[in-house]
Amino acid sequence: MKIAIGCDHAAVELKNKIIKHLEEKGYGVDDKGTYTSESCDYPVYAKAVCDSVNDKSADLGILVCGTGIGMSIAANKIRGIRAACCNEIFTAEITRRHNNTNVLCMGARVIGEEVAYKVVDAFLEAEFEGGKHQRRVDMFMEFEK
Ligand code: RB5
Repeated sequence: MKIAIGCDHAAVELKNKIIKHLEEKGYGVDDKGTYTSESCDYPVYAKAVCDSVNDKSADLGILVCGTGIGMSIAANKIRGIRAACCNEIFTAEITRRHNNTNVLCMGARVIGEEVAYKVVDAFLEAEFEGGKHQRRVDMFMEFEK
């Protein structure tokens, strides 16, 4: 599975640790930046990751900023994207199972690396359940039209 990942200046360190975690688990990783702690604008990186998910060069996306909220708002403005800001394990698993989310957002100023690894694992290992959840996803995806 290939994961596109991006962050802003607030989350470079956590992003790099998540990349290492993902590679150790055997995932392919496409790092879209940012690469330094110089102040930058998170929507740029949200767009880069979401474009990769939409053009299928990545299966899923991960975005990290200070809170995870700016990244999730920006990502959800992009057609085809269902992003969830999850800073704990339970919602990371359930959002994949029920919302068929394709982008996970986290806040580097909210969670530590060990929780972040567990959130990432929960998100990537869960599977969409379909059925009534597909109907609901179809309903809100209609809002894009
Ligand atoms: C950057 O200071 C901060 O605003 C950003 O990382 C994020 O938390 C936005 O939602």
